[in-house]
Amino acid sequence: MAIQLKSLDQLKKMRRAGLVVGELLIEMREAVKPGVTTNDLNRIAIDGLKARKAKSNFLNYHGYPAVICASPNEVIVHGIPSDLPLVDGDILSIDFGAIIEGWHGDSAITVGVGSISSEDQKLMDVCEESMWRGIAAAKIGGHLTDISFAIEDYTNAQGKYGILREYGGHGIGTEMHQEPHVLNFGPAGRGPELEVGMALAIEPMITRGTHGTHVLDDEWTVVSDDNSRGAHFEQSFAFLPDGKPFVLTSLDGGKAELGRLGVEISDLLQ
Ligand code: MF3
Ligand code: CO
Repeated sequence: MAIQLKSLDQLKKMRRAGLVVGELLIEMREAVKPGVTTNDLNRIAIDGLKARKAKSNFLNYHGYPAVICASPNEVIVHGIPSDLPLVDGDILSIDFGAIIEGWHGDSAITVGVGSISSEDQKLMDVCEESMWRGIAAAKIGGHLTDISFAIEDYTNAQGKYGILREYGGHGIGTEMHQEPHVLNFGPAGRGPELEVGMALAIEPMITRGTHGTHVLDDEWTVVSDDNSRGAHFEQSFAFLPDGKPFVLTSLDGGKAELGRLGVEISDLLQ
């Protein structure tokens, strides 16, 4: 299968899905505090999808039982929401997606619960910044793994973090997971050339220890092999017909974060 290239009209629909995801992730982030359960957050997402006439792309995906993934502490990704209350000092990754008129959005954040350690804060900051550096490294005419290299290069310069090997970003469009797979490590200048109309979900996943992970008996929950805590950030972005990027799942289209890194976003979706 070739990489799906999206027209401006199609990207307008992806922006609508992306805004649903971005708005509801903020609503969930604001609800996170000690005593709240990840099922409470899942409920916020269910209600928010309904209010916006959007559908879930997570629910029933290969049998997945919820509309968000909620991954606390040493759970790095794909945690299933539960009735266990969050505790002061936890960190929680929330991954969430939505479909509008058949077009998908996908984004993730890691948030602190109450007051968290400076080491956990740095883990989260490094992960988020590596994602923005990855997106900022993506240029028309450049290559896919320019993104991968930028993520790894930044992360390794910040300290000893484990970058997950078995999971990565992906193309996104009329399905949540499309070609190409986007590694979060490796040399630049490889893989397909980046083109107008490509839409990619960029999602670094890192731990404070090893990159190795295993899946629990529930067949979803991904835990670090050394039980070190992890962070996960994700945004979906696209190249617009003017050759500039736009972050579909970010409320400001990535204007502030990419601007800070010297990248101008497209104004075709604003
Ligand atoms: N949204 C995840 C990703 O970033 C995938 C979630 S899997 C699901 O690719 F089963 F939970 F939907
Ligand atoms: Co994704």
